[in-house]
Parts: sequence; structure tokens; C-alpha cells
Amino acid sequence: MLSPFPLGRPARMAVMASGRGTNLEALLEAFPPQNPWGEVVLVLSDNPEAYALKRASRRGVEAVAIPWRGRKAFEREALDLLRARGVDLVLLAGFMRLLSPGFVEPWYGRLLNIHPSLLPAYPGLHVHRRVLEAGERETGSTVHFVDQGMDTGPIVLQGRVPVLPGDTPETLERRVLFLEHRLYPRAVRLVLSGLAFPPGEGLKALLGEAWPRFQGLSPREKPLYLRAAALLSAWGLGGLVPAALMGQGGDWGRGAFLTAHLLAEDHPALRRELAELPEEVRLRAEEALRRVESPL
Ligand code: GAR
Repeated sequence: MLSPFPLGRPARMAVMASGRGTNLEALLEAFPPQNPWGEVVLVLSDNPEAYALKRASRRGVEAVAIPWRGRKAFEREALDLLRARGVDLVLLAGFMRLLSPGFVEPWYGRLLNIHPSLLPAYPGLHVHRRVLEAGERETGSTVHFVDQGMDTGPIVLQGRVPVLPGDTPETLERRVLFLEHRLYPRAVRLVLSGLAFPPGEGLKALLGEAWPRFQGLSPREKPLYLRAAALLSAWGLGGLVPAALMGQGGDWGRGAFLTAHLLAEDHPALRRELAELPEEVRLRAEEALRRVESPL
């Protein structure tokens, strides 16, 4: 199985946050009660003072503080609560603690994080200051599956913003946050649709002769290829995946890659190419785009 999603029912999501929770707010807004994608049923914090907890309570979402008395105790309580609430997907949103393998492993593929840089560049803290000091012209944000490293793990989706003359860490933070509030819900929709998943069991067989090529891709390129492969499988064309990933998939392969690109970021030139494909490809592509783009 490539992905545990789609579930065939609305997902039950938990958000873990340590601080002010603007990303939490964006997620609560994007997934309100009773919407078909699913809803946030639990907000957890390691910090009883976190404003994120207030944001959750204000919307009637269960908000629980598990004050940090060491990793082991926190993780045991958190894991128990996630299980008790029947959570399907956990979203870290400004959660500033590193989780141990004992937490991450059972949730691998169902645990996401958002980080304010174009990973794998600038993991860790004080990102905006470091980006400015390095003289970067562009920065952004990354939603990724959490693995055992810090801000590592397979990428789901990235968004970019420019660094402008005169920027300070504060102006950059505001720009990146604005981006994140759109990026995170979109990444969640991709995961819930089964179009984003960490490379794992079953993938090698699906990719066939394209497997070595896939392995040689950069961490930023891989999600595009995974989405294209997942789209073709969902369209009942799994047999075409190896050829498509080698650039020999004809109109369907092209349609899958154009769609995979457009699912991450809109682009008029790609829309136009899609419009020129045969109708059966175009209709499939448009259906996939409509699903992930229409917030509700
Ligand atoms: C966000 O920018 C998020 O990407 C970052 O913390 C901020 C939380 O803001 N996360 C990390 O740095 C994790 N390594 P918020 O509390 O307003 O959502």
C-alpha cells in the first residue's frame, strides 16, 4: 500500500503546537466541523501557556496541555490520547520539541510538520535570520512527513517567497507565515487524497525500471514524481508508471506530471498545456485538481 489514505470517510486530525498557533488557526479554518475532508478533533501542547490552546477552545475543539516533564512522560500521554480519540493524522504546527523514534515510528506517514524554510536547507531554529545572513534571494516553507531527524523526512509540499531588499527577520517571518497558512491545508488535502506519501513498501514494484531514476532525484523533486505515480494508479493506469517516470508515458504521462505540478502550484503555462491534451486525460486531471483545490 502506498498510502493509508484516502480513508473513505472524514479524517480525525490532531494538531500539536507549542506557541501562538497561527498555523493551527489556519487549519481550523480550512477544516471546519462536518466538512468532507475531516476535522481537527484535538489540540495538544507541551506548553500550558500556549495561545494555540485558547484558539482551539474558542472554537470548541478539545485542547489539552501536557506540561513537559521529560520526553518519555509527554510522549506516553500524547500517544494514549491520540489513540483514545481515534486520530488518523497528526499535524505539528509550531511544535518545538523533537519527538523520539518511539513516537514517530508508529505514526510514520500520518505525522506531518511545517518548517519555515526550503528544506533540506535551513533546518533548526532562527531560520529567517540565517536566511538573511546568507544573502538568500528566495525562501519559503516546507510541509514534510516527520521521521527521526530534525526537520528531515520526505517532503509533501513546498512554497516559495522572495527575500526583498530591506527585509528583517520579522518581515520575512510575516511573509512566510502568510504562505504557510495556505500551504499547510493544501498539503493536508494532498495527504488525505492519497497523493502524497513517504516512499515505502510497494513503491519499488510500482516504479519498476524507473526506480533507480527515482532514487537519484533530489528530496525536492521526489514529491512531484510520487504524485504523478499516485495519479496514474488512481486512474487505473499503474502499468504506465515506469514509462511515465522515464518520460515515455505519452499523453497520460504528460497529463499526470502536469497535474502533479499544478497540485503543488498553479501555473498558467501548465494549465494551457493541460487544456491541449485529449479530453479523457484532461477530464481526469481537472477532476483531481478540483478536488484538492476546492477547500470544501
Ligand atoms: C511556523 O512558522 C512554523 O513553520 C515554525 O514555527 C512557526 C509557528 O508559528 N515551525 C518550526 O520552526 C518547526 N521547526 P505559529 O505558532 O504561529 O503557527
